[in-house]
Amino acid sequence: MTQTSDKSEKNPDALETVPVRTSTGVYEVHVGPGALGRLGEVARGACAGSRCCVISDETVAALYADVAEASLAEAGFEVAGRLTFPAGEASKNLATLSELLEGLAARELCRDDLVVALGGGVTGDIAGLAAALYLRGCAVVQVPTSLLAMVDSSVGGKTAVDLAAGKNLAGAFWRPAAVVADVRCLATVPPELFRDSCGEVVKHAVLADPSLLDELAARPLTQSRLDEGRLTRVVARNVQIKRDVVEADERERGLRQTLNLGHTIGHAIESASELSLGHGSCVAAGLCMVARASEARGWCSADARRRIERCVAAHGLPTTSDLPAETLVRYLAHDKKRHGDGVNLVVPEDIGRVTVRRVSLDELARIVEDGRGEVRP
Ligand code: GLY
Repeated sequence: MTQTSDKSEKNPDALETVPVRTSTGVYEVHVGPGALGRLGEVARGACAGSRCCVISDETVAALYADVAEASLAEAGFEVAGRLTFPAGEASKNLATLSELLEGLAARELCRDDLVVALGGGVTGDIAGLAAALYLRGCAVVQVPTSLLAMVDSSVGGKTAVDLAAGKNLAGAFWRPAAVVADVRCLATVPPELFRDSCGEVVKHAVLADPSLLDELAARPLTQSRLDEGRLTRVVARNVQIKRDVVEADERERGLRQTLNLGHTIGHAIESASELSLGHGSCVAAGLCMVARASEARGWCSADARRRIERCVAAHGLPTTSDLPAETLVRYLAHDKKRHGDGVNLVVPEDIGRVTVRRVSLDELARIVEDGRGEVRP
């Protein structure tokens, strides 16, 4: 494995390694083609236990659990079983969590043993929470297989399930022992889901990397679904961007809120559309809307707004929402990140520079209204 950022272009089998420092130690994120076959080797280096259990949804398990378990067995782990659940957000609930905990107990996993979270964001969140709770906490290795999970949810230690009252309302911070992201798994992600996840990739570029944003606008990642070298480089860069934020603010007391860029309006669009629009698409629309409204208030440069819109549009992601402002504001009022009668809105001032502004719900309604519009030159 290598720590340099350009080796993957020269040697497609090299893994990029991004270390993440936390209050309880360092873990490494390994990115690259064929990383899944090296899961056992990575897990062996990251945890002491002798037994492991793979948690996955049924779709991902059918594709990748055999390879994952073979690699774990080859590294000397006893595979104590596989726990699966139906794919989809509807499974991310307390009932599935309870079944997973009972499954781990039935397999007599010890606190030193290892849970392997193999799959997309839903699996990472629920298996991560199961690991956080089981025996008051056992090691988890995150093995993200979707683009969204690779660039975002597998890094930073957030775990959760949904409650009837809303998404991600019950959870814990539980850092992984390691993360293994095999970009080859992205070949089996449906194209529309891959496109959707690009919303978070664009968000990271807006947060921290102007040249990545312009590169993505000129050559959208949707054109590189099978380009393992480019995927490795872009995923690893996204992990670095997220790493830099979560290292500075693990528990979301300040800087980590900036990762919510595009999410305030995006979450309202997601809830109001009853999950018919993907998360990344909603974030992309929210990002463009907040950029437009911010430009109108003199908070964001016209150049930044233009570059954001251009990159989002290049990926075929929505750049606006025509849902009525009253509908969106009704959902915004229920946002779990609301503080009193206002919200902390993340505003792009320029590419690579954001600020958090406290705005009232009334002001937010005006921001939603002003944020609508077409892509402008
Ligand atoms: N996905 C936002 C965070 O991890 O804080």
